[in-house]
Amino acid sequence: MKVLMVCLGNICRSPLAEGILKNKVAEYHLDWEIDSAGTGSWHVGNLPDSRSIAVAKNHGIDITDQRAMQFEPNHLNAFDLIFAMDASNYQNIIRLAENEDQKKKVHLIMNMSRPGMNQTVPDPYYGNDGFESVYQMLDEACDKIIENYSK
Ligand code: 4NP
Repeated sequence: MKVLMVCLGNICRSPLAEGILKNKVAEYHLDWEIDSAGTGSWHVGNLPDSRSIAVAKNHGIDITDQRAMQFEPNHLNAFDLIFAMDASNYQNIIRLAENEDQKKKVHLIMNMSRPGMNQTVPDPYYGNDGFESVYQMLDEACDKIIENYSK
């Protein structure tokens, strides 16, 4: 299974999602590949935001090996599952899809643990206190990703 986590900048939310899922994949000894990307290009090559690094570290996860990359249309072929953090990320990915098979790979991540609610992982970039709650939401969703796709 190849899984791609996608947000806007690939420095706050999706690096956390990547780190959390990688940690669980290691725990369950699954042969999965996890990566993350942003629909925007501003931060390409950068480390995750220091606040995401700190929250991950508080939970025993090191995300400092990650560098931001931009989402590309060929990711719709290269990955089996693509998880968008919010509706805007979702739409930006879907409009690059060329067929139904590609569209079916794309999901709003919170629909994994809260089916059908189309909830957003709020963008914590402009605040300071949103990072822990983003971590908790992603941790919950990643548990369900493992549960649903590791069978
Ligand atoms: P992310 O947060 O999408 O969770 O990585 C953001 C990071 C940077 C910007 C926006 C959102 N930005 O506008 O630079």
